[in-house]
Amino acid sequence: MQKKSIQTVDERLKHIAFIMDGNGRWANKRGMPREFGHKKGVQVFQEITEYCHKIGVKCVTVYAFSTENWKRPQKEVEAIMKLLDEYLDKTSKEDVRVCFIGDKNRLAPELVEKINSVEERTKKGKSTLNVALNYGSRAEIVNACNKLIATGKDNVTEEDINAALYTGGCPDPDLIIRTGGDLRISNFLLWQAAYSELYFTDTLWPDMTSDDVDAAIENFYSRKRRFGGLDK
Ligand code: IPE
Ligand code: IPE
Ligand code: MG
Repeated sequence: MQKKSIQTVDERLKHIAFIMDGNGRWANKRGMPREFGHKKGVQVFQEITEYCHKIGVKCVTVYAFSTENWKRPQKEVEAIMKLLDEYLDKTSKEDVRVCFIGDKNRLAPELVEKINSVEERTKKGKSTLNVALNYGSRAEIVNACNKLIATGKDNVTEEDINAALYTGGCPDPDLIIRTGGDLRISNFLLWQAAYSELYFTDTLWPDMTSDDVDAAIENFYSRKRRFGGLDK
């Protein structure tokens, strides 16, 4: 029987986050350098995020580069930064608000300039794409705490922390999808993921297709979210 594809999502699925893992292994399997996998990974990132917005997901977050990824060989880090730079040159649509979440301080000033201009140009977009770049969830929480200390607040609420995070204004992710087969979160959205549904697939990120997204969404809709309460 032919698979029926997901037409649109509803209000239960406002935010999907992706841990885009497996680029290096995808390239290795083909006897190619890891950079080749990252190149394909960016292409797939554009296709998958466009698909999610097309089916009505309001907010999509992708983990592009972690605060720990600087440990990789300089050549690989440089290749990833170059690909991001090229991606910024190519993004022309203004219907999606692009936000870079993460610490911009360690990024090259020319890259930050491009990031700022894309964020400015797309700020009226109706749906959101968060690109996590030099992102670490612990660093994000520390940053939020320092922001709140600077305001002189002596009583901090969960709402205050939510608003002070890089993702402030976005609903928590309903679904987090990790490709590449590893069953971990790797310092991604630790606060925001309190009640997210987690979906892990062995598919390597460069092999990810809209059918795989549909499969994850179908699985999401088969789950009962209780948020600590009882089944309705
Ligand atoms: C994910 O793919 C992309 C980044 C972390 C930048 P990897 O580069 O981690 O690929 P694997 O996990 O080594 O295959
Ligand atoms: C997570 O992948 C980070 C990104 C996808 C950007 P990693 O490949 O860095 O994660 P670990 O090291 O396997 O936990
Ligand atoms: Mg990896």
